[in-house]
This record gives sequence, C-alpha cells and structure tokens, in this order.
Amino acid sequence: MRLVHLTDPHLSSLAGEKFTALRGKRWSGYLSWRKNRSKRFLPAVLDKLTASVRAENADQILLTGDLVQIGLPAEIQQASEWLRSLGPAEQVMLVPGNHDIYAGGSAESVSGAWSEYLYSGVSTDDAGMNDRFPVMRKLGRLSLVGLSSACVTPVFMATGKLGDVQLEKLAGLLEQEAEQGQLVCLLIHHPPLTGMTKWRKSLDDAARLQAVLERHPPLLLFHGHLHHNRELQWGNSRIYCTAAGSSVADASYRVIDIDDDGDAWNFRMTLKSIAIGARKEVEFLAVDEQYWQVSKA
Ligand SMILES: [Fe+2]
Ligand SMILES: [Fe+2]
Repeated sequence: MRLVHLTDPHLSSLAGEKFTALRGKRWSGYLSWRKNRSKRFLPAVLDKLTASVRAENADQILLTGDLVQIGLPAEIQQASEWLRSLGPAEQVMLVPGNHDIYAGGSAESVSGAWSEYLYSGVSTDDAGMNDRFPVMRKLGRLSLVGLSSACVTPVFMATGKLGDVQLEKLAGLLEQEAEQGQLVCLLIHHPPLTGMTKWRKSLDDAARLQAVLERHPPLLLFHGHLHHNRELQWGNSRIYCTAAGSSVADASYRVIDIDDDGDAWNFRMTLKSIAIGARKEVEFLAVDEQYWQVSKA
C-alpha cells in the first residue's frame, strides 16, 4: 500500500482579478499574494511536483488543503482542473484549508466544485460543510479519515475549528475502527495537537481533538498549514507536516509505504524535496527516509 502526502499548493493566480472590487479580508489577502505568495509559490514548481507525484503510482494521494489564495470562483475553477490532473477522485482524498474557506460563500462554492474529492463520492445531506465530516475511505485494513478544520476567520487570523458535531462523530468512528483492528490515518489541515503553532494559526478546539485522539490514536496523521517539513512522534503515532507543494524554496511530498505482515505494521516514509539538476531542471530527490514498525499486539 502506497500513500503520498502533499499540501498547501496555493496554486491559483490572482493576476487577472480586478482587485479594486475586493473588500475586507479578500483585499488584504490579495495584497499578501501580490507582495509575497506570488513570488514564493510558483505554478511551474507545482507542475513539476504534480508530474513527480503521479509517477509514484500511489494507491491514494492525500491532500490537506489550501489549494487557492482567497477563495474566488475563478481560483476554485483553476483548482478543479489541477485536481483532475493530479488523479481521479477515487485516488485523491482532499480536506479543505483555511484559504479554501476564505470568506462567506466559499464553503458552498468549494463543496460544489470539489465534491467528489472532498466527500469521496458518497452521498451527503444538506448539513453545513464541517458537519459532513469526518469522511472515511477504507482500503482493506487501512482507514483514511478526513477532518475539516477550515472556517471563515477575521482578517489576519488563520485559525481553524472542528466543532461539536465533528468531534463527536470522530470519537465514535475511531472507536469503531479500533474495534475492527483497522490502521487509521488521519488528515487535517491545521496542526492537530495543542502547542504546535502560534495561537493566530492554531486549531481553536485542539485540546478537545487531542483528548479524542488520545483514546484511540491514529498511527499516521498528516497536516498542512505550516508550510514546512516537520514531524512529531507522539506515542506510537507519527505526525507529519509537509512543505507547500508549489514553494520555490522547499516544495516537497512524502511517500509512505505500508506493509501488513500479520503481527505488525511496517512503515517506510520517504520525503522528497525540490532540487535543481545539472541542466537546471527541477526535480524531486529523497532527502529523508525512515523505517519503523508498530506491533498489533
Ligand atoms: Fe497554506
Ligand atoms: Fe492554511
């Protein structure tokens, strides 16, 4: 079983937008894109990363949000096209980031346009976006569980929130999967535990999520939002953040190979990061490799 994690492509361009028509938080977001993000996050880098990821032949590509900048309809359309180029919805599992749910109306637009990738093609009711989560995909003994921590926040804030309904459903789901002896892998945009980032960027209900995770800890957790390659060992769990997928400085993705030998889960994680080859071409080279085993007993 092979998984690939990538995150935070921030792929959309605002070059064609009439910025004078933007208001409030979108105005400040546009200025931030023009001043910083348009120079740090390059579509050409993401194109190379996309080709490299496709060549890994993963069973599932895990994508932890922030596909766009300020959630405008044209950006959401650009991201839809990129998603299709990455792989079919059955092979790509997406959870939203705070830049995807940037302002009023974003959740409805994103829900409609990226529905198959977000909700795994399962039928959904008319609940608000976050109440449709968690979503789960099962691949044999592996259960992939996706959370939505994205919500509209005031200007200069990048916090997230899961809410009561999602946390309660997650607790039930993790208990059920533990009883069935499933290997659980959790996807969330924001760092899942307390103290992993500054308050302006943190998950409002991280302490409550942590309490739920402590009862039945997933062995793998992937998140984004921090735009750096980071890892944390938490008991038997490995928590990975991967750098932004279009970053000219450190665009990266992780390949995780999982083998079930009956008594234990065997893992291999390879981190691949951007490098410039001898003929100035962009390539992705392995910069870290880890092996570990977790007994099922
Ligand atoms: Fe981001
Ligand atoms: Fe984010």
